[in-house]
Amino acid sequence: MDLLHNISQLATCPVNGKQEEIGSISDAALVWEFGKILWVGKENALPDTYRDALPHDCGGRLVIPGLIDCHTHLCFGGWRGNEFAQRIEGKSYLEIAAAGGGIASTVKATRESSFDVLKQKAAGLLEEMLALGVTTVECKSGYGLDYDNEIKQLEVYAALQQEQPLDLVPTFLGAHIIPPEFTERRDDYIELLTNKLLPEIKRRELAEFCDCYIDEGAYTVSEGRKILQAAHALGFGLKIHAEQLTHTGAASLAAELGAVSAEHLERITVKDHKLLADAGTVAVSLPLASMYLKDDYIDARGLIEAGVAVAVATDLNPGSSPSGHLPLAMLQACLNQAMTPAEVLKGATSIAAKAIGRENLIGSLLAGYQADITIIDAKDINHWMYHFRANACAAVIKNGVWQHNRL
Ligand code: NIG
Ligand code: FE
Repeated sequence: MDLLHNISQLATCPVNGKQEEIGSISDAALVWEFGKILWVGKENALPDTYRDALPHDCGGRLVIPGLIDCHTHLCFGGWRGNEFAQRIEGKSYLEIAAAGGGIASTVKATRESSFDVLKQKAAGLLEEMLALGVTTVECKSGYGLDYDNEIKQLEVYAALQQEQPLDLVPTFLGAHIIPPEFTERRDDYIELLTNKLLPEIKRRELAEFCDCYIDEGAYTVSEGRKILQAAHALGFGLKIHAEQLTHTGAASLAAELGAVSAEHLERITVKDHKLLADAGTVAVSLPLASMYLKDDYIDARGLIEAGVAVAVATDLNPGSSPSGHLPLAMLQACLNQAMTPAEVLKGATSIAAKAIGRENLIGSLLAGYQADITIIDAKDINHWMYHFRANACAAVIKNGVWQHNRL
């Protein structure tokens, strides 16, 4: 049995309640055993049964649930630094894609990369994320876009799940763009997705969710409906890359299909807010994509006021968001999405857990939850967000086991 004590602020982050309600406890303590949290409360109220637990002095720091990055494209070949420079010179993301760059160029690089190369690169990224206090990562395929290479990406995730401590939540994004060789035969590719890839991925349990990118240059709403309905019939949870560059009606489709999350939403309308709220669909905001594309930020205030839970994630990928720095995304959500530090914290913990269907297991520091715990070198959440540092994470406990300990 282990005890964390001398905690200036502990945020339990219950998944229910308002977005700003982080369940803050000052002068707190926490007990865990065998990977599960047993008790959380005021240190001076610690029950006698836990007095023999091995103590760890947190030095008056902030303790939060292990951070959850609920939207990444973790496995990809190559990078696209050249496009970053072109965008700064004034070219748009869609212009670069139309000239053969963009997602299609990463598809080429991913197809050309071996399983081992992809795995090693993704493992390095995960190591950096863990050091920042991230303990669970959703990771999408979508850069293979053919049978073998989509499976290869998902197999990378399955292998990494066995080899490193973070929990990975794999999502099939075979419907990212139409692969170049199918431009004139869109329906044939969609048939490959629905009749071959989805059933095989289900059979081998290589993904929990199915995602679809609905946008100009990607899939239409009616194509997305067809793919996602096929995925739903097979038992996949649903996610949608929705309303990023153009408003298509994808957020309304997410609500119609009962998707667990609608992600991006830079172009969402007020009418869509209510649809997502009524459906209980989580809005996943990706402020680093807005930052890198110099695009609009999501209307988080409108969504929260309409009763939608707003998650914050990195969108780590080689194009629109080449960074897996979740605390930086959280800072951007404060500054540019008008979310308070408390709202952002819930967005990267319990609400992020809801966006991957694990809100009863992770994302909250409550008795019975998995002992995924991050200790931040700040006295409270406001100070952490305000005083941005390359890495303010002092220690990480994943499933009850210390991963980093700089206390
Ligand atoms: O979520 N919007 C579509 N897909 C990714 C970008 C992928 C890329 O540029 O490689 C995103 O932003
Ligand atoms: Fe994305």
